[in-house]
Amino acid sequence: MADASPILLELNQLTKSYGSGKVALDGFDIAVRKGEFVSVIGSSGAGKSTMLRCINHLIEPTSGTIVFDGKDTTKVRGRELRRMRRRISMVFQNYNLVYRATAIENVLQGRLGYKSAIAGALGLYTEDEKRRAFEMLDHVGLADFAYTRTDQLSGGQKQRVGIARALVQDPLLILADEPIASLDPKSSRTVLELLRGAADKFGITCLVSLHQVEFAQEFSDRIVGLADGRAVFDGAPDALTSSIVSEIYGGDSEEGEQ
Ligand SMILES: Nc1ncnc2c1ncn2[C@@H]1O[C@H](COP(=O)(O)OP(=O)(O)O)[C@@H](O)[C@H]1O
Ligand SMILES: [Mg+2]
Repeated sequence: MADASPILLELNQLTKSYGSGKVALDGFDIAVRKGEFVSVIGSSGAGKSTMLRCINHLIEPTSGTIVFDGKDTTKVRGRELRRMRRRISMVFQNYNLVYRATAIENVLQGRLGYKSAIAGALGLYTEDEKRRAFEMLDHVGLADFAYTRTDQLSGGQKQRVGIARALVQDPLLILADEPIASLDPKSSRTVLELLRGAADKFGITCLVSLHQVEFAQEFSDRIVGLADGRAVFDGAPDALTSSIVSEIYGGDSEEGEQ
């Protein structure tokens, strides 16, 4: 990743308070470059999911701005929001697959943002979309499982379907919220290698929340440490000292309170 790559995503003083009065994100700033792989680490309750969900407007921030691909998206709605969202893929801890559907059908769902509601509902995909969906399944090592129902797959395989679905969306940005939290170490590594590959081979920016500091250090260009909705660290993996790690995880978080 070249340092001179343009900025793809910028969050300025992003704040989110929930109705309960809880300030989940407290004036968060970050600028992420095209093709950069950034990990967000922090205890449970630090605000990682809140931050990721604000970026594609699954939830609306209370204040602050979000600039994505050169556009202030803070107030986008309707068609413009749809156009923005299709260039942002999500990868989830619980995979969010349709389990009664096959792997290839799940991957094709990554194309829904490009289709009319009717074409999507009828599953009218072009030959080109089907070919690309197969290519992506092959890319994640699951070509042989294209017609397998996803409830028959292991956790690691399910997440690889999730990544193929994310890639077929042709995203500029992948937001992955604890993508390996339910996986064993070997599957975790495979999934992180695929995400790292998306950044390196396809220039896709990856913003990945992780619990495991070691994995974050191994795979990231840059690490952001969140505690209580604030960035307490933003830097290169080798600048993350053990005292900073204790600051990130020792804060006044929900885990700390329990
Ligand atoms: N929908 C919600 N309503 C009220 N509080 C919430 C909601 N979602 C998250 N929170 C609170 O916001 C804080 C940050 O949560 P979250 O973003 O899920 O953190 P993380 O992903 O780092 O575990 C926590 O205190 C959490 O309880
Ligand atoms: Mg979370």
